[in-house]
Amino acid sequence: MKTIKLAAALLPVAFIAGCATGPSAEQQAAMGNDARKTAGSLIQQLGGELKKSLEANGPAESIAVCKDKAPAIAASLSKSSGFDVKRVSPRNRNPKGVPDAWEAEAQAALEKRLAAGEKPETLDTWQVVKTSGGKEFRYAKALVTQQVCLTCHGENIADGIKAKLAAEYPHDKATGYGVGMVRGIVSIRRPL
Ligand code: HEC
Repeated sequence: MKTIKLAAALLPVAFIAGCATGPSAEQQAAMGNDARKTAGSLIQQLGGELKKSLEANGPAESIAVCKDKAPAIAASLSKSSGFDVKRVSPRNRNPKGVPDAWEAEAQAALEKRLAAGEKPETLDTWQVVKTSGGKEFRYAKALVTQQVCLTCHGENIADGIKAKLAAEYPHDKATGYGVGMVRGIVSIRRPL
C-alpha cells in the first residue's frame, strides 16, 4: 500500500518533468545565438538608416525612419529568420509597442543587470516558456539609450521635433530619457 501511494505521488512529478524536457540545452543555446544575431542585425540596420537620415535630413525628417523603416526591417528579419521580431517598451511611443508580461519582466531583469554594471552590448536573455498550445522560445535584447537617441527620446526635445511627434504619436510615453537607460527591448519569439 505504501509503495502504491508513493508511486502515485511521484507520477505528477514525472509528468511535469517529462513536459519540461526538450528542446535540449544545446538546442536552446543555438536558438539563443540565432536570436542574438537577428537582434544585432535589426540594431545595425536600423542604426545605419537612422544615422544616414539624421546626417542627410535632420531629426524631424528622420522620424519617418523610426516609424516606417523600423517595422519594415523587423518584418523582413522575421521572414528571413523564422522568428517573430519586434520592439516594445513599457514607455512605448508606438501604441502597438506594449510589452506583454514576459517582455516586461525581461526588460526589468535587464535593467537590473545594467544597474549592476553589465555592459549594454551583452544585455540579453532567453527562455523556453510554456504556452496554452505548447512551448515557445522567447528572447529579449535591451536597447540602451545613447546621446543620439535623446534627440527624439530625451528631456529637452527641440520644438519642431516635439510638434511632429505630438502629431504622429498623441499618446507618446517615450520621452524624458537620459543616456544609459533601457529604452525598450528587441523582442523575439518562435513557437516550438
Ligand atoms: C529621429 C527620431 C528618433 C531617434 C533619433 C530615435 N528614435 Fe526611437 N523612436 C522614434 C519613433 C518615431 C518611434 C516610434 C516608431 C514606430 O512608430 O514604431 C521610436 C520607437 C522606438 C522604440 C520602440 C518602442 C516604442 O517606444 O514604440 C524603441 C525601443 C526606440 N525607439 C529606441 C531608440 C533608441 C535606443 C534610439 C537611439 C539609438 C532611438 N530610439 C532613436 C524616434 C526616434
